[in-house]
Amino acid sequence: MERREIKTREDIELLVNSFYDKVQQDEVIGFIFKDIAKVDWARHLPTMYNFWESLLLESGSYRGNAMEPHFRINKKIPLEAAHFQRWIQLFEATVNKLFTGETAALAITRAKSIGEILLFKMNSINHPDPNNKKIPLVNPGNQKG
Ligand code: HEM
Repeated sequence: MERREIKTREDIELLVNSFYDKVQQDEVIGFIFKDIAKVDWARHLPTMYNFWESLLLESGSYRGNAMEPHFRINKKIPLEAAHFQRWIQLFEATVNKLFTGETAALAITRAKSIGEILLFKMNSINHPDPNNKKIPLVNPGNQKG
């Protein structure tokens, strides 16, 4: 299949569907979605279409808190660097397999920077540095179940 640019909602849906197909089958992170979070895909996928459409096509269709569910999951199983690395690896492979161009590159850049922020936040909870005690990296309100 010819790789194309990310231009429409349909492109976003293809990206998201293909990515979560891979995620669900993945040995490293699949179980987090299936067994820990027990994701309702009929609900989650449209949220992710809106999220990526807003980031890449400036649709403004996503209204949510992208950070919150990860704090919730992190209480059940610590989300570590290896999980985020795998997530990014699968995302990047999916984008590069299907798409080309500036918006495709932007998708990868955005995923990596959000992944870094998420990992930083999870690490500050899972591996708190005693020297950093005075600097609250995470608003404790975010950690409520
Ligand atoms: C270790 C890596 C990650 C894991 C295991 C993970 C897992 C999850 C799970 C289980 C949910 C909840 C789905 C539900 O509603 O049932 C979720 C939601 C979400 N994730 Fe992640 N995620 C990861 C990384 C990322 C990254 C890097 C991004 C952004 C680039 C991201 C963006 C989102 C967004 C936008 C939501 C939906 C928030 C909402 O409900 O509005 N996630 N994630």
